[in-house]
Amino acid sequence: MIPGMPGTTRDLLSDIETFLAEFGVSPTKFGLAAINDGHLVKNLRGGASVTLRTADKVRAYMAEQRSPSLAHDGLESAVPPRRLLLIIGGGIAAYKCLELIRRLRERQVMVRAVMTQAACQFITPLCVGALTGERVSNELFDLNQEHDIGHVRLAREAALIVVAPATADLLAKMAGGHADDLASAVLMATDKPVLVAPAMNPRMWLNPATQRNVALLHADGVHFVGPEVGEMAERGEAGLGRMAEVPQLLAAIEPLLREADGATDTPREWGAGAAPGLAMAGRRVLVTAGPTHEPIDPVRYIANRSSGKQGAAIAQHARALGAQVTLVLGPAHIPDPEGVEVVRVETAREMLAAAEAALPADVAIFAAAVADWRVASQAHDKIKKGGKALPRLELIENPDILKTIASARPGMRPPLVIGFAAETQNVLEYAKAKRRAKGADWIVANDVSPQTGIMGGDRNTVHLITAEGVESWPELDKDEVARRLMERAAERLAAITAAT
Ligand code: CTP
Repeated sequence: MIPGMPGTTRDLLSDIETFLAEFGVSPTKFGLAAINDGHLVKNLRGGASVTLRTADKVRAYMAEQRSPSLAHDGLESAVPPRRLLLIIGGGIAAYKCLELIRRLRERQVMVRAVMTQAACQFITPLCVGALTGERVSNELFDLNQEHDIGHVRLAREAALIVVAPATADLLAKMAGGHADDLASAVLMATDKPVLVAPAMNPRMWLNPATQRNVALLHADGVHFVGPEVGEMAERGEAGLGRMAEVPQLLAAIEPLLREADGATDTPREWGAGAAPGLAMAGRRVLVTAGPTHEPIDPVRYIANRSSGKQGAAIAQHARALGAQVTLVLGPAHIPDPEGVEVVRVETAREMLAAAEAALPADVAIFAAAVADWRVASQAHDKIKKGGKALPRLELIENPDILKTIASARPGMRPPLVIGFAAETQNVLEYAKAKRRAKGADWIVANDVSPQTGIMGGDRNTVHLITAEGVESWPELDKDEVARRLMERAAERLAAITAAT
């Protein structure tokens, strides 16, 4: 991808590349079939930009081509035809709604769409209407429309209302009870469940005003999915604020539609992706992450391949759940997660000191790959070649940060201590032994053999080991592992608090 490429073009190209890989079509054929331009992909890859209209057409083409058999996760059989009202807000993530509509239609869900004026700047009502097969509403005082289907009827006929992307402005309107355009009027007029998928710049998301509005909406019973951690459309911006991807939107929609049907047996994992509110508000969370560097001399050190990504994602999700988070981060080339206090350290001993300084905490998660040994005496000057014998490094063991904090005196020991176990063989057996030996409540075990690509990579396959047993999770990206782990931690903390 070309650095500095505009967000729309970059996102479109990335979707096209996924499509090409999925369907095995050549870029030329794709361009010809989508918009009768065989050079489309080549030009995009070369850095050319496209108009929103062209992007819409290309996306509509991809949505049409995707086979209904590709992504069935139970919704079709589980849900009889239901009507869902999709309120599309004005954000770059609006394009994801095209794919969402298509996927919902595949699952026999009828979609009616309302677009805000701002949304029409990002995708066209024409394209949305073509995919929903229904007229798109976007004006409160459109007389024909009020006569035909007014805002009250739009609100009443839907089994579920989904707001995506939910901008900071839309959330503020909802929280404040405004009704000065069709989208907000419908939301005021409904008594049906509402699911919002926020999407905005990370600073806007963490702004106290937005967080106040989010808390109000949670209290009002509004459901949330996302936002996710990731790159923003704005150049060089990253953090918490990216709209949830279509599979997560579907995972959050599915149980709500089932509930609307009166089903009470919604399996727990169907809710994966739906945020359970600010379940960690007022909690303090400590996370260690990244490698440590143990100096040999002023220019050399002992290190490992940890990227710090898993720990940073955990810190970000704990923050997203409302916690006050300290991330003690070893030398890693990753940006500071938004809204998190980051203490950058180099050695294991510095990491221990920073972790202890961050106590007391309600949860401590030790995701760092701490170097087990350090050189007994670090050379003051650079060690030179050419001596009679090769230099010998005497190693001594580093303090075990997890074990030290898990055995802290009562009052200082966090009520929930979570460690990681990086293993290359006998993963479960070694990890269970580590849980006991280190005094952790939970251990997240993973196989870090080179062929797994976990160390430094973006995906992870983990087993959660608790006193009750072992839970094996499917392969997930590190962000999703972090989300699930923090949601579980929030539930566990609530149970601990209720029991004391
Ligand atoms: N850990 C720690 N301090 C250390 C070593 C490990 O806090 N000095 C923590 C890690 O952050 C992780 C857990 O202990 O949560 C297990 O780390 P791992 O590297 O898998 O195990 P080790 O204790 O280093 O044991 P071994 O290398 O023998 O597997």
